[in-house]
Amino acid sequence: MPSEPALEARFTALTRLLAEAQSLWRPLPFQHREVPWGERAPGLAEALMALSDDETDRLQASPFDASPLAAWLPVDALAEAVELPRLASDDTALPDAWGEGIGARKWRQIQAFAGCVAPDDAASLLEWCAGKGHLSRTLARRDGRPVTGLEWQASLCEAGQALAERQGQPVRLHRQDVMAEDAGDWLAPGRRVAALHACGDLHARLLELAAERGAAVTLSPCCYHRTEAVDYRALSARGRALMAEHGLTLSREDLAMAVQETVTAPQGVRRHRRRANAWRLGFDRLQREVRGRDEYLPVPSCAYGRLPDDFAGFCRWAADSKGVTLPDVVDWASFEAAGWQRQTEVERLELVRHLFRRPLEVWLVLDRAWRLVEAGQRVRLGTFCERELTPRNLLLETC
Ligand SMILES: C[S@@+](CC[C@H](N)C(=O)[O-])C[C@H]1O[C@@H](n2cnc3c(N)ncnc32)[C@H](O)[C@@H]1O
Repeated sequence: MPSEPALEARFTALTRLLAEAQSLWRPLPFQHREVPWGERAPGLAEALMALSDDETDRLQASPFDASPLAAWLPVDALAEAVELPRLASDDTALPDAWGEGIGARKWRQIQAFAGCVAPDDAASLLEWCAGKGHLSRTLARRDGRPVTGLEWQASLCEAGQALAERQGQPVRLHRQDVMAEDAGDWLAPGRRVAALHACGDLHARLLELAAERGAAVTLSPCCYHRTEAVDYRALSARGRALMAEHGLTLSREDLAMAVQETVTAPQGVRRHRRRANAWRLGFDRLQREVRGRDEYLPVPSCAYGRLPDDFAGFCRWAADSKGVTLPDVVDWASFEAAGWQRQTEVERLELVRHLFRRPLEVWLVLDRAWRLVEAGQRVRLGTFCERELTPRNLLLETC
């Protein structure tokens, strides 16, 4: 288990690695016609373009294993900096019947997460942003103790309360906006707050209150970019000092990079995403020509199932949404082919950003851990399940 000095060394190492490579991982390749870091890493783009489809897929799944990028980038140092212990025991299985009404994947996540909450912990339990309180119900049932859940949406509180009562579990779901002034009243020493996949500002608020009030925390953070601040201000003083010392800056868009992964997406969704991306890139080529301006034009994303049936339909929709007038005659086939060709290039160029995704995520969790360390708490950092179950598998707990 990494001790706090080891975590601090990791925090420093990751800050340096991320800061030094900012010009490589920050630009979004699909926005640039030229390779944005061509001069900084000569030969890298050519090496990426030479990768087969299988090799590209393999590096998307395992970016640190036998990576040809190692000739240009600190692959081994990044791999070492993100290596974390598994905090849950392997045997976390609970009776299947307890998972009634919970999606199969969520149920497996809940079992793994519950495996990190000690059954004999003397602290009283509170769940943060509980939804229907699936985790609360599971912990109450496993440990035979009451659990309180906080959730903002009244309908979820009601549905979750009914579920708990039907199963005879001592769970109380309270309607509470955790961002409101009075949310801190729920936290006190002797209380442990469990939060599974609480988004950006919601989990930052929990950490702030736990630091102030001395409550214990078991947290798996999620969606770091769901935050009001456009520019990231580190939660910990150490994080702010490291950012200033190494010149690391992070925008809200950069934070989104930490959670953009498709490891758990089903094949159908991945195919759909590839087609949508290829069409966007084909439209990008078309709009540059039509507008006579060689610059990227952001197009809103199309919800799953809403993608028009063909490329021409997509371009008409995209042009309409951006106020671009398309000519009467367009060589659709050639622009679509250009989009698919560009897609194969972008996928390969994206491998550079991909290498820094997990390091950025681990850095963000270290910043959260450090907020608690600075408040005098002892922390542990690790994973609670395999990445295939959820890529958001990092867990921060105070002990
Ligand atoms: C990503 S879900 C996680 C739910 C649950 N922990 C799980 O893993 O399934 C986030 C939950 O936070 C709730 N939420 C959003 N904003 C909130 C707020 N300001 N106060 C309390 N709950 C909030 C949402 O309604 C939603 O149920």
